[in-house]
Amino acid sequence: MELPFAESWRIKMVEPIKKSTREEREQWMKDANYNLFQLRAEQVYIDCLTDSGTGAMSDRQWAAVMMGDESYAGSSSFFHLKDTITKITGFEYVIPTHQGRAAENVLFSHLVKEGSIVPGNSHFDTTKGHIESRKAVALDCTIDEAKDTQLEIPFKGNVDPKKLEKALAEHNEKVPFIIVTVTNNTAGGQPVSMQNLREVRAIADKYGKRVVLDSARFAENAYFIKTREEGYADKTIKEIALEMFSLADGMTMSAKKDGIVNMGGFIATRHEDWYEGAKRFCIPFEGYLTYGGMNGRDMEALAVGLDENTEFDNLETRIHQVEFLASLLDEYGIPYQRPVGGHALFVDADKVLTKVPKEEFPAQTLAIELYLEAGVRGCEIGYILADRDPVTRENRFGGLDLLRLCVARRVYTDNHMRVIAAALKNVFDRRDEITRGVEIVWEAELMRHFTVKLRRL
Ligand code: F0G
Repeated sequence: MELPFAESWRIKMVEPIKKSTREEREQWMKDANYNLFQLRAEQVYIDCLTDSGTGAMSDRQWAAVMMGDESYAGSSSFFHLKDTITKITGFEYVIPTHQGRAAENVLFSHLVKEGSIVPGNSHFDTTKGHIESRKAVALDCTIDEAKDTQLEIPFKGNVDPKKLEKALAEHNEKVPFIIVTVTNNTAGGQPVSMQNLREVRAIADKYGKRVVLDSARFAENAYFIKTREEGYADKTIKEIALEMFSLADGMTMSAKKDGIVNMGGFIATRHEDWYEGAKRFCIPFEGYLTYGGMNGRDMEALAVGLDENTEFDNLETRIHQVEFLASLLDEYGIPYQRPVGGHALFVDADKVLTKVPKEEFPAQTLAIELYLEAGVRGCEIGYILADRDPVTRENRFGGLDLLRLCVARRVYTDNHMRVIAAALKNVFDRRDEITRGVEIVWEAELMRHFTVKLRRL
């Protein structure tokens, strides 16, 4: 008999989690103004809000924590981290930051000006926020296929080379750089192919532009290249990652994802001028250059995390679990962004809650229903997160309206995946009874989803 697939690790420490009653959850959800970010963690049974900073560190990472050098300047932990990053990416210049959006803030403070246009593939909301708050434009050049959730193609996160070329031909002097997000979170954790990165490089070279990789999930992207793209099956994840970065000029990184640490980020680049420019903003915003918002101990843990998570076994275990969750949804006929992405499953709420008008936010409604059903917390990646158009102030209903169920790295078991899928099935089975959604009572101007107050209709 062939042996079944199993995790590439065993568990050394556990953390209890608690169930609750539907009545309790009804009250908690109301108190939280129907915003899942406003719940307390202990009110959640299985937390699929994000895969960011929620992973479980390994014994090697915890051991490394003890070796942290907390010197203000010249910390040896910084040099351990820097050497690891240079080995994995080929980038010589490294600036640590407290998380990914801080890396964006520091680098974009140097590069993005009022009127700039930054083309890329579905900029993440903080990336878009840091561009738009500088009165610049985040121009989405993702392939159109990404919008068809039922279409099954291997690299649905790709940049459309035609859209990119058009943007550069029309706005050349306004473009400070191109940004490619790997994997493409907003489009459903969808990967970008090496071929596509090569095409982006060629267009960038033609117009004399530089390329930044938003690398939060670069290792998962490398896993998909290895398992899906011709010519990469026999290459290691580290070889593939190095090749991906060889096609870029620099990166912003949220280490809370593929670095498997609870907090941290960095900028890395091959260009001294970018380093010198960003340096000026790191010191006032983040901290001195050899810690930039991170503890020595966290830099040590990150160095180990980056090394571990660019190994095939670790990534295979992770992606396998996300695929297992997706296989259960297939069984129940629940539509999601196909094929399932690296870090999460994105339920197509528009196709589930067909009776809830888009003005009443179907994906947010589905997130609320799932929480009420079983205490499973997901997150809306849809019309609320899309914010309003900065000029017209209208809601942006042009994109997808998805319920994202993130899978934390090395945290839950496949049994938890079964609970999530069963809870979703129960909501799915009564979908036609759900005809009303929510309305906004209060919202912030930017990144409103974190603090929005809603009323159930
Ligand atoms: N880029 C991408 C692609 C991201 O997914 C995130 C964060 C960031 C940048 C910002 O990094 O949180 O460390 O400041 N994504 C989290 C999520 C929050 O839930 O998807 P950060």
